[in-house]
Amino acid sequence: MREKIVAGNWKMNTTIREGKELTENILRGISSVPAGVTLIVAPPFTHLSTISGIIGNTKNPGLSAQNCAAGEKGAFTGEVSAAMLASVPCQYVILGHSERREYYGETNEILLEKIQRALANGIRPIFCVGEVLEERESNMHFQVVSSQIREVLFKLDPDDFKKVIVAYEPVWAIGTGKTATSEQAQEMHAFIRSFLAESFEDLANSTPILYGGSCKPSNAAELFARPDVDGGLIGGASLKADDFLAIAGSFA
Ligand code: PGA
Repeated sequence: MREKIVAGNWKMNTTIREGKELTENILRGISSVPAGVTLIVAPPFTHLSTISGIIGNTKNPGLSAQNCAAGEKGAFTGEVSAAMLASVPCQYVILGHSERREYYGETNEILLEKIQRALANGIRPIFCVGEVLEERESNMHFQVVSSQIREVLFKLDPDDFKKVIVAYEPVWAIGTGKTATSEQAQEMHAFIRSFLAESFEDLANSTPILYGGSCKPSNAAELFARPDVDGGLIGGASLKADDFLAIAGSFA
């Protein structure tokens, strides 16, 4: 049985007060989350310590950052290191989100360094892959996603790879209200799993592969019912506790 995961990517939203309220509302409803589903929240850096305190020792929901530095420590003004995240403590970090790739020039090479840094500090990466609309329309999507995987995940040792969570996020579906159909999601997730198996064999069977891109309470059940869709990375809908919890409750 593969892990089932629903992670909320808050992006650059909420003040600390709003983030506290959102977390408290999630905690209030957390008993509705089916057993065996791992819930994760990914607030902005400034909120992590406060929200870690609200969550407490249960580590439920799990706590994720939205990025970390490639460097270890030192003169990198404005950066936040993986060791700092581990000291919060944060258990996860989102890496390779399309917004980081597009607006901040994060390449596969940089992402490999970040992933290795996170893993060296005991933090599990949620590694995002996905194609832009043009690439899908020109039938390049499998090629794009396979090179994102080849240039990053294939460079990891199997023992490190075991800790990785993959998120397939078609860029044309992020924040657009336009979701991939569950057929499109399943097709890509199955492709990713078989591609991962080329390098990691049986381990690929246990890799959680999440879908992201306008996932909401009305479409989560259909997406999560697909055999290779192991949960979701949720943006907009994770900012409302009720919607986020409803999505987590969408596993059959
Ligand atoms: P969305 O974002 O759910 O708002 O489309 C998903 C993501 O970017 O992780």
